[in-house]
Amino acid sequence: MPETNLYSCALVTGASSGLGEEFALQIAPRVSKLILVARRESLLQQLADRIRARFPRVAVAVFAVDLNSPAERDGLVKTLGAKGFQPDLLVNNAGLGDYGEFASADWEKVQAMLRVNIEALTHLTHALVPEMIRRGGGAVVNVSSLASVIPMPDFAVYAATKAYVTSFSEALRLELREHHIPVLAVCPGPVRTEFGSVSRRSPDSPGMPSNKLFYVPKEQVVAESLAALDRNSARVYPGLKTAAAALLLTALPIVLVRFAMGFRLRR
Ligand SMILES: NC(=O)c1ccc[n+]([C@@H]2O[C@H](COP(=O)([O-])OP(=O)(O)OC[C@H]3O[C@@H](n4cnc5c(N)ncnc54)[C@H](OP(=O)(O)O)[C@@H]3O)[C@@H](O)[C@H]2O)c1
Repeated sequence: MPETNLYSCALVTGASSGLGEEFALQIAPRVSKLILVARRESLLQQLADRIRARFPRVAVAVFAVDLNSPAERDGLVKTLGAKGFQPDLLVNNAGLGDYGEFASADWEKVQAMLRVNIEALTHLTHALVPEMIRRGGGAVVNVSSLASVIPMPDFAVYAATKAYVTSFSEALRLELREHHIPVLAVCPGPVRTEFGSVSRRSPDSPGMPSNKLFYVPKEQVVAESLAALDRNSARVYPGLKTAAAALLLTALPIVLVRFAMGFRLRR
């Protein structure tokens, strides 16, 4: 952790569970204001109470927002302005997956993935970065995935949304370099959160196959991500095995990736 706090007000999306909750907990001692966003207000309030108890000098605000809805996102941006919140650390973490073949996917869920994983992340970044530039500092952390580096049958739309997140983050990082605003793409492998159950199409449908040896604890994912932000890294693949997998997958020629991904894990 840096000696001095670089940021004063952080906004974390998807703070009601998993990685977002952990980002909020680890960022809290670094800021004076923390804004928690997700749909489940009671979980956000419980987290806010825990943070207030642990870090009494941090002002915590909770906004129950469905990031799937452009109107609710607009409302959030307007409310932040009206209440005088000027986040200088934006953590775009909210996201969801859908595990199964594309042809039989439920359109509502596909649309929610596109809207939350891509549109909401882009919308909030677009709304908040100009003020960071005007004030001369800030940072954007976009939670992507190891899935962003490969096309993934049975996770086709999810992996494609994360490819967008990684590509967008890398390009935005170059645009914001002259304004000294770092942009970090966090690319975790499997982490135990609610992600697995949300990705399932029904309680009996198969979940994403993954070896438990590859799971990285959420505490480690977030600690490595914040350390990467402090180092001004462009990307982080938290956990040694995830980093090794990323190295291999990004070095392989696409013909070999296609061949390997042809052995669909679910079959
Ligand atoms: N877990 C993994 O294995 C893994 C691996 C790589 C990348 N990731 C990425 O990590 C990020 C966090 O996921 P997680 O693993 O922590 O999963 P999680 O426990 O399911 O958390 C997802 C968060 O996103 C929020 N969210 C989902 N839809 C939303 C909506 N329409 N509006 C507002 N908030 C919404 C959820 O809050 P509400 O339900 O309360 O709205 C929740 O707080 C995601 O972007 C995911 O793609 C996860």
